[in-house]
Amino acid sequence: MEETSNNTEEFSFSAFSNLPFYRQVNARLLDLAEVGRQRRIIDLGCGTGGVTKLILERIQSAKETVIFAVDHSASALRDAVSELGGRKDSVVRFVQSPVQNLKTAINGDVDAVVYCNSIHYVPDKKTLLGQIREKLSPNGILAINTSFFDGSHPPASEEFFRRWLMRSLRILKREHGVMPDASKKVESRQHLTAAEYEILLEDSGFTIVKSEVADIDVPESGWYHISGFRDWIEGVLPGVPLDVGRQALQKGLRQVFEERQIQTIPRRWLSISAARA
Ligand SMILES: C[S@@+](CC[C@H](N)C(=O)[O-])C[C@H]1O[C@@H](n2cnc3c(N)ncnc32)[C@H](O)[C@@H]1O
Repeated sequence: MEETSNNTEEFSFSAFSNLPFYRQVNARLLDLAEVGRQRRIIDLGCGTGGVTKLILERIQSAKETVIFAVDHSASALRDAVSELGGRKDSVVRFVQSPVQNLKTAINGDVDAVVYCNSIHYVPDKKTLLGQIREKLSPNGILAINTSFFDGSHPPASEEFFRRWLMRSLRILKREHGVMPDASKKVESRQHLTAAEYEILLEDSGFTIVKSEVADIDVPESGWYHISGFRDWIEGVLPGVPLDVGRQALQKGLRQVFEERQIQTIPRRWLSISAARA
């Protein structure tokens, strides 16, 4: 019997979130919302702290700034604490909470809310956006990005995904004797279009400041490390033990990149900054 591991820390977002291309995508969002000039900032769905680190690099006065790093995952927050090392001091306050409890999780209002690659997890976005609006000071700003929206897969990437999945399933079956179990699939997430996000924000009491969709060339290392992230493995290969799923996805990925002699696969990222209306 094969040894399997489902240890949560081992399947964290950390390796992906430190990749230069991902840092650039998030840095662009922070630029859009001029994050760093504000004093009280929430990093919502902070995960393993990659974006918290970017915010910290921009703050002007550590003495006057506080960053609330919020996530419901205890293991992600543990990773974030070690990721930030010495910089965690009093500037960053880690808050373990579902984002849906934002209203009570943090006292007082804030000048900015940064929400990177995480809003697609939340089914009731309208209620959450209402809570975010309540948390913002009158001139407060919200910055959201996601690579899981309706329109995030350029047609040029569809063939790649089909081949990658086919290869991974073959490896799973031949080398591990397992197949995904569709009944274990996590509840499918509703993907909105860019226009639907904009309308939702406006209906929730925001004015759109900037909205852009960027074509990002994701390198093989991006797909490789995302294949080691729990949520990705569970989404693509439901019911498969995490370490087995990771192995199959990473091996399948190598095969497709080698076969096709490619360096990157494109993905679209939606970034929106919005002010409290
Ligand atoms: C893809 S990671 C992004 C992490 C981080 N923002 C970054 O870009 O590096 C998504 C994070 O959202 C968190 N998350 C998902 N749903 C959540 C919820 N309802 N409440 C709090 N955190 C949530 C997950 O635990 C995970 O850490």
